[in-house]
Amino acid sequence: MLMSPKSIRVLHCALCLTVFLAACSNKSSTANKAVDAEGHQWWQHAVFYEIYPRSFADSNNDGVGDLNGIASKLDYLKDLGVDAIWISPCFPSPQVDFGYDVSDYENIDPMYGTLADFDNLSSEARKRGIHIILDFVVNHTSDQHKWFLDSKSSRSAEHRDWYVWRDGKGPGQPPNNWTSTFGGSAWQLDPTTNQYFYHYFYVQQPDLNWRNPAVKEAMFDVTRWWYKRGVSGFRLDAVDTLYEDPNLTDNPIRPGTNAFGDPFEEKKYTTKLPEVHEALRGLRKVTDEYNGVLIGETWTADIAELNLYYGQGNNELQLPMDFLFTTVNRLSATEFRKQISAVDSASGWPTFVISNHDIARSYDRYGDGQHNDQVAKLMAGLYLTLRGTPILYYGEEIGMKTTPPTRKEDVKDPIGQTGWPKEKGRDGERTPMQWDSSDNGGFSKAAPWLPVPDTARTHNVADELKDPNSVFSFYKKLLSLRHTNRALMDGNYTPLNESDQNVLSYLRAYKDQGVLVALNMSGTEQKVTFDLRKQGFSSAQFLLATGQSSASGSVVTLEPYGVLIAQLSK
Ligand code: NOJ
Repeated sequence: MLMSPKSIRVLHCALCLTVFLAACSNKSSTANKAVDAEGHQWWQHAVFYEIYPRSFADSNNDGVGDLNGIASKLDYLKDLGVDAIWISPCFPSPQVDFGYDVSDYENIDPMYGTLADFDNLSSEARKRGIHIILDFVVNHTSDQHKWFLDSKSSRSAEHRDWYVWRDGKGPGQPPNNWTSTFGGSAWQLDPTTNQYFYHYFYVQQPDLNWRNPAVKEAMFDVTRWWYKRGVSGFRLDAVDTLYEDPNLTDNPIRPGTNAFGDPFEEKKYTTKLPEVHEALRGLRKVTDEYNGVLIGETWTADIAELNLYYGQGNNELQLPMDFLFTTVNRLSATEFRKQISAVDSASGWPTFVISNHDIARSYDRYGDGQHNDQVAKLMAGLYLTLRGTPILYYGEEIGMKTTPPTRKEDVKDPIGQTGWPKEKGRDGERTPMQWDSSDNGGFSKAAPWLPVPDTARTHNVADELKDPNSVFSFYKKLLSLRHTNRALMDGNYTPLNESDQNVLSYLRAYKDQGVLVALNMSGTEQKVTFDLRKQGFSSAQFLLATGQSSASGSVVTLEPYGVLIAQLSK
């Protein structure tokens, strides 16, 4: 018997399972209080949303987004089901790396507004129960930061030892073979003092010397300053790179060259040094004073490394981002199953990300060019139903696509200039949010800093809000379910039908409630049989499905890239 996805029925079956288709955070806040009987905290049930502020909403029509623009969209975010926004750096910056080169940690770049605008955003967000997470660039500052300007002024300057200065190996020779991840040597000779300073990223982003206790204290104070202003936590930028070997041991070199023409380097002495964890424990102590949350940009190679970032007894990052998940670059039930099970066994609460301002959008990374909308819903069905905290990237909810520049002269991201054509930079995943089908996608009345793709005519908030079958509508229904369904919030993860190479399915079980999720990762229709007697579930009720996906008896039929989610009870 086939039923329409809208029908909601309950069926009891003794023998087999029958699936039917069918407050914000300063010291006085309650942020660290458990929100359920399991002792979970607000950030474990929250849906996070990353905003790249240049590209979100432009209130003053200068072609670049701003804080008042974000404030004007808070109702949209609330309606979508967002509980916390992570704003990529909006601090004063020369914008060499579009804000990841901070020249003052305790202010707002005039391009984005003022501190008063921030306070307004914060209070408007609080009214709606939305937390604000700031992006804390911990590894480096801008070369225009007052600390660096003083540091480079003389070898005896007060801030000299706040950065990493070394003598060259000989005339014209940098101290060792370390290269910048953005191309070229990681060392820059400064003529004033005739010493080299170290920069893991651009030359305009000198690395702070975290071995200096004064640096640590100053950085911890920055977080206090913002916590007191009402933020709920930080996303910590590039934490892997905080320390480097004080003996400057050369990194091992592997054959071949990268997009910048540099030899492939194993970053053995420049990333993930054990000292990072001591610094994170320090930051966490401050965070705990204010009931905050720390999200980490952690490029872990395996679960053992991920566990290190949670810390012993979870005393480091609450939410180290699981980029292992994003390394699954094709729709593969087997690969995702492997990855989810690994993360689920980690020592802390999982965090799921499928795209961000450095990673091509999931719409075309997984899409086959013909079924991209279905694939967008499929990916939503995946990362929004897992045990853990999802971080959405703006625009994923409307199926925005990656639009890389086609000509070198159009590239804005400097690595796209130096690495062209092998490395086109990250402009493609940073195009302006598509609000409606008008010019510039309704983002701005002026020409935006990056062009708005033509797909804004079909994929935009205004139109998708009205279409019950849009990617947006699916995200909204799913997020609503996620916020209200106990099993989705707190349930354990159990993989099902583990040898199925096409359909990824799993059970989320909490006490006597369960949710079944079945995701067809293939381009052909799939039929799957479920038997959940072992888990004690005997009845099912349709919750959500895409298109023609249906169920009859214990057999679920999933359309290509189809999703089916059902409530189970005992
Ligand atoms: C990681 C950020 O996500 C990226 O955008 C930035 O370029 C580097 N860190 C340097 O801050």
